[in-house]
Amino acid sequence: PALEDLPEVAGRSVLVRADLNVPLVEDASGRLTVADDFRLRATLPTVQWLIERGARVTLCTHLGRPAGRPDPRLSVAPVRDRLRELLGDGPVEVLENLRFDPGEEANDPAFVARLVAGHDLYVNDAFGAAHRAHASIVGPPATLPSAAGRLLAREVAVLARLVERAEPPLVAVVGGAKAKEKLPLLRALLDQVDTLAVGGALCFTFLRAAGREVGDSPVEEDALEECRALLESGRRIELPVDLVAQRSDRPEELATSGPDLPSGWRGMDIGERTGERFATLIESAGTVLWNGPLGAYEDPRFAAGTRLVAEAMAASPAFTVVGGGDSAAAMAAFGLADRVDHLSSGGGATLELLEKGDLPGLAALRRWAPLRR
Ligand code: 3PG
Repeated sequence: PALEDLPEVAGRSVLVRADLNVPLVEDASGRLTVADDFRLRATLPTVQWLIERGARVTLCTHLGRPAGRPDPRLSVAPVRDRLRELLGDGPVEVLENLRFDPGEEANDPAFVARLVAGHDLYVNDAFGAAHRAHASIVGPPATLPSAAGRLLAREVAVLARLVERAEPPLVAVVGGAKAKEKLPLLRALLDQVDTLAVGGALCFTFLRAAGREVGDSPVEEDALEECRALLESGRRIELPVDLVAQRSDRPEELATSGPDLPSGWRGMDIGERTGERFATLIESAGTVLWNGPLGAYEDPRFAAGTRLVAEAMAASPAFTVVGGGDSAAAMAAFGLADRVDHLSSGGGATLELLEKGDLPGLAALRRWAPLRR
């Protein structure tokens, strides 16, 4: 169901689940502020649609991963401040970080009941969190008339096109961390893509699985075996052929080498030759999906790999989709955000939708539909 399918919204109280999980930075005075407001701006069309029609909006989100209890460093206060700047003083309330309560991740019915109390309607615009079967994502449609927000609907439409009408060859470039978490998704992606290029922190687990020395780089031991199986599956997986490394005991000392790294060195970015190989893949593809930075790009010394990939995405004639808060932030940092076909607000959600063709948050919204009739 879309926003237009909701019963009259004027004068009603609408609970909007958004994914306002954004990176925060500390300013000189120690105050936390929003480092990148892409996800905040992405959900504005939904909020504005509701406000313009006279609804009272209560936004809710998770922020980071607090362990089910309040953590002052993960308060939504900076998000609230930035939203106020973007929206002006409107009838919008922002609830405190949902994950401060263990009931959110546990999908506790009592928590759902407290969340929906006092609201007439529910809108899910949290595409980036729609792969989590958490209380605020799957609970409200059981009792409140519900709809997908603009952002959620657009994301699903674009990603459906990526799967159903992808112009070949289809190339996926995956970076970032969380190798173990991304593995099932990578496995499914490999059934669809012609080439999977792997960089970022997760490439070290793959490199180690391929028998390489990775020095002091992070390796997820519990993912090694599965990475090895993927590498041996005969699918086309491109691993880095060179890396920018940093000396562990003298961080100012850098070198490009590899793919093997000696102990005492830590890989921080893909090397230039690797970046150029990935760029060639992107530029000769029919469709490209990029998820996750290729190095620790926040530090300019380790940004070259991510920049090469971002520039190749911008230059490629392919249908280009960027998924993941960090990759989207990188595109924005390089001034290239409007040069790709779609900048997705989802990370894990994007990959899981590509893998399974559905998400718990979408299924929950569909369950509302029969109740409506
Ligand atoms: C994300 O940033 O990918 C989403 O906000 C989901 O966050 P999570 O991985 O902590 O559930």
